[in-house]
Amino acid sequence: MSEILRLSPCEIIRKKRFGGELNETEIRAFVKGVVDGSFADYQIAALLMAICINGMSERETLALTLEMAKSGDMLDLRGISGVKADKHSTGGVGDTTSLILVPLVACCGVKMAKMSGRGLGFTGGTLDKLESIPGMRIDLSTDEFERQVNEVGCAIIGQTAELAPADKVLYALRDVTGTVDCLPLVVSSILSKKLAAGCDVVVLDVKTGSGAIMDTPEKSRKLAELMVRIGNLSGKRFSAVITDMDQPLGNYIGNALEVEEAIHVLAGRADGDLKTVSLELGAHILRNAGRVQTVRAGVELLEEKIRSGEGLMKLREMIAAQGGDPRVVEDVSLLPKAKAKIDLKADRDGWLAAICTADVGNAAKLLGAGREKKTDELDLSVGVVMHKRIGDRVREGDVLCTLHVGERSDRIGAYNLLKRSLKIGKEPVKKPTLIHEVVEE
Ligand code: URA
Ligand code: CA
Repeated sequence: MSEILRLSPCEIIRKKRFGGELNETEIRAFVKGVVDGSFADYQIAALLMAICINGMSERETLALTLEMAKSGDMLDLRGISGVKADKHSTGGVGDTTSLILVPLVACCGVKMAKMSGRGLGFTGGTLDKLESIPGMRIDLSTDEFERQVNEVGCAIIGQTAELAPADKVLYALRDVTGTVDCLPLVVSSILSKKLAAGCDVVVLDVKTGSGAIMDTPEKSRKLAELMVRIGNLSGKRFSAVITDMDQPLGNYIGNALEVEEAIHVLAGRADGDLKTVSLELGAHILRNAGRVQTVRAGVELLEEKIRSGEGLMKLREMIAAQGGDPRVVEDVSLLPKAKAKIDLKADRDGWLAAICTADVGNAAKLLGAGREKKTDELDLSVGVVMHKRIGDRVREGDVLCTLHVGERSDRIGAYNLLKRSLKIGKEPVKKPTLIHEVVEE
């Protein structure tokens, strides 16, 4: 303890500035200072930048992760019977897999006790999406959360304020200091929350491409390997699937729009990449939880839960348990609807060759689906519906996407950004690989 007190923020910052390896005591002092306010924001930001520039060893990353996990409550989910599973994505656009796989996996007898976040940068957040369901509560107490997971088999709630509070401070500063895409910082941010949240099995969806934090398969693989290695040291079972984010995963981007697409998938009305990735991730959970022998068998079991309608009924049950209007699963017109729609049409013939996915997310944000400032209020009805995917033939005049706009939308800004982010080429192009790699112990 006295040792911690002797460590000044400035000494720790200077050590990392000159490329030194921080020891556990220094990392503990830093995380303590983040939570109790004895490190000022500018000192935290300076250290974050030094970490970005000089990196962290695996030992430092592990120490940072464990200290951040211990910075608040460590949830004890032993009151929930059976295997408890969680899933986390590194962040994407049109990435609604949780709303699909959580009820489906729960139908197979594996408990899904999921804590989700809000939108971040150009990426969407499950909590914001859930709030588009009229009446839906995402602020259950730990007791209510446990009871619901025991009774219904699944729940999706917001991280409580006491879970990994160090991450809240660090994340907010990273977001505004250009220090988001830094390997040890991403690893410690995600893993600290997963370790504190108390599940036995965790499947990580590590995105790669133009709409991902890590934009190349090499960087994404490094991130996945490090998270799985450090995660497994905790005694929980971690694995990661590296999946494509060179284009939005689903065709709907925006909060109520993404809930609608998830319902279409669960109702068996929609196929495609969103469904494929959701079932793949869900199947990894089932396999790691010992429910099936192979991922393939898991995918088949989850398909069966769509065909039988059980998955959709489980979503209905979860919504009702959390105070939401369960009728949305039969009638998506009960979700908030945008005031108007604007089509963006192709101005030439060709093939849809590339998408700047981050800017599709940014366009949805300009329409009001995401926040520019922490205090911004969202318009849950707005967003973008894509009609073409990479590799599709495009004719002049074809609708490439439709903007769902509201009164507060910057419709011109969003339209122009979308137009720039969709590239039409003269030659046919291959569709991107959807599932790149599985990373396991
Ligand atoms: N998601 C998180 O929770 N943290 C990160 O650093 C990146 C994605
Ligand atoms: Ca402070």
